[in-house]
Amino acid sequence: MISSSPPRRRLRAAVVALATAVLPATALVLSTGSSEAAASTLGAAAAQTGRYYGAAISAGHLNDSTYVSTWQNEYNGVTPENEMKWDATEPSRNSFSYGNADRIVSLARGRGMTIRGHTLLWHAQQPGWVSGLSGSDLRSAMLNHVTQVATHYRGQIYAWDVVNEAFADGNGGGRRDSNLQRTGNDWIEAAFRAARSADPNAKLCYNDYNTDGVNAKSTGIYNMVADFKNRGVPIDCVGFQSHLSSSSNMSSYQSNLQRFANLGVDVQITELDVGGSGSGQANVFGQVTQACMAVSRCTGITTWGVTDKYSWRAGDTPLLFDGNFNKKQDYTSVLNALNSGGGGNPGGGTGLLRSASSTRCLDVPGSSTTAGTQLQIWDCHGQTNQQWVRTSSNELTVYTGSSVRCLDTANGGTSAGTAAVIANCNGGNNQKWNSNSSGTITNVQSGLCLDVNNAATANGSTVIVWTCNGQTNQQWAGPTS
Ligand code: XIL
Repeated sequence: MISSSPPRRRLRAAVVALATAVLPATALVLSTGSSEAAASTLGAAAAQTGRYYGAAISAGHLNDSTYVSTWQNEYNGVTPENEMKWDATEPSRNSFSYGNADRIVSLARGRGMTIRGHTLLWHAQQPGWVSGLSGSDLRSAMLNHVTQVATHYRGQIYAWDVVNEAFADGNGGGRRDSNLQRTGNDWIEAAFRAARSADPNAKLCYNDYNTDGVNAKSTGIYNMVADFKNRGVPIDCVGFQSHLSSSSNMSSYQSNLQRFANLGVDVQITELDVGGSGSGQANVFGQVTQACMAVSRCTGITTWGVTDKYSWRAGDTPLLFDGNFNKKQDYTSVLNALNSGGGGNPGGGTGLLRSASSTRCLDVPGSSTTAGTQLQIWDCHGQTNQQWVRTSSNELTVYTGSSVRCLDTANGGTSAGTAAVIANCNGGNNQKWNSNSSGTITNVQSGLCLDVNNAATANGSTVIVWTCNGQTNQQWAGPTS
């Protein structure tokens, strides 16, 4: 990186020499520029706290280059708007069609975006053949659908809306009647179990609308999630569609997100749009953003489209970009709220850091405390050399007391291949790490991903930093508890 530009190399060498001679490490951090400045796009601003900011994208508009560039320049996440629904993916029984969804997924993966899958099961947008089925035949068709689609996208989806809109509106707090519901009240948990088997690394969400506050419907869902957690049904997250308007009552929006988070699931704003205009609309967008930022388990926000021009509610002009792709007042409101920080890195905590490719754990060889010791992966055993703590300044520390050490890049290296080591903690940006919603852990100084070298999986495989590439040897679970 440095060698391509001799003048910069001299400048950098001078800065390092100066810093080494007279300045504390923090001055070096400031002089090299870092993450302190406000980010200028929605995705970059959200990423500062490990969140994503996504948009629903429609394959039918991918030929509009302004649409694509606005999405790609501003957002770091995507949900296919219709292309993963049952009618799109299984137009006739056991015959699958992924072309349009794959186009969106491939564009998103090429840019390292967080991809939400929407949706495996829903009472709407079912293919015609499903309407002829009921009982055990429908049940097996439904579970086959979940298994096939989740398997097709295995390893590529951050979170699946496994089930969409299964609860009724109104004051009852119960399930909606549907063909799926009539196969038996346990259809939702059967779907979640099938999805977990098909793609064990995707977060599995329940998603619904009119749940944007504490009300009978959201409480019915809350009770289901609590029951699932108690009985070990695999559920990881709840999606709040948030199809709102300028006059939406936001008084319990944040506390509602928080009560779900307190059950031990992540929460996400999944289909945000706000009908209206001007400051009324911008205020609601700002409140939604602030609420998510204030809930540490709120891992990201998706707006239901990019531009008012292509919105499913076009008459309500409900999005952040107008019909000519100009930024609206709403955009500034959202960007400012994202930049003002919030509840830290979702997924922060203490405990094991488990590699997704091998399920082995980030480990200090021989329980060494020697600065410069390169990390490895090893069978997870939970001893002190595998216990990591995310500090409030986003260091990842191991050991305690005078033995405490920080996860560090060797000699402050910023090139792909630099060893991940332990070192005495010094507050430098090469010792700060963001846990991202995609499962990657990125170094704040270099932006590189924590990576198991050569995608090896054996005990003793070394750990480095490398250009983020979306592979599972760059995905980590934890520290979580
Ligand atoms: C909508 C799409 O935006 C439209 O293009 C389509 O015609 C109908 O579905 N809740 C959901 C989304 O979960 O899938 C819906 O998307 C909007 C409401």
